[in-house]
Amino acid sequence: MDRTFVMVKPDGVQRGLVGEIVSRFEAKGLKLVGAKLELLPEGRVVEQYREHLEKPFFPGLKAYIMSGPCFLMAWEGKGAVAVVRRMVGATNPAEAAPGSIRGDFALDIGRNVIHASDSPESAARELGIHFAPGELVDYSRIDEPVLYE
Ligand code: PPS
Repeated sequence: MDRTFVMVKPDGVQRGLVGEIVSRFEAKGLKLVGAKLELLPEGRVVEQYREHLEKPFFPGLKAYIMSGPCFLMAWEGKGAVAVVRRMVGATNPAEAAPGSIRGDFALDIGRNVIHASDSPESAARELGIHFAPGELVDYSRIDEPVLYE
């Protein structure tokens, strides 16, 4: 099964959106296999966004991500990376479709509530940055036999 990394950013935590976001992924049928609330250290923020270190928005992005606790999750399911990206919506909330998380809960690209891995390779890398192997849990969800063909 595919796994992906998802992070509710500090604005989402402060606005009390963690439960709503978790509910959406649970209702979709994805399985939560890891979760924790953390103030991210600078080194992990830099690792997470290493492709963007030279971008003009990076200092603001780093300050935003470190401004309060993030809620970090690992979700598992068929096609989890692409499914979650579609549920999260476009990076710029102004362009995110209604019904997506950013489309429903955000207005500003600099406060876009949530991060999700953009490829299976990124998911493996990002899960490795934020979770020790023992923090990801293997188990069966009781509804799995009716969720999958
Ligand atoms: S780029 O330049 O197209 O590669 O960047 P993009 O893929 O759009 O975004 C990369 C991550 O940076 C965040 N981002 C921003 N944060 C704060 N302010 C501004 N202006 C801004 N622009 C982009 C964007 O949300 C992406 O982070 P994640 O965590 O994946 O959403």
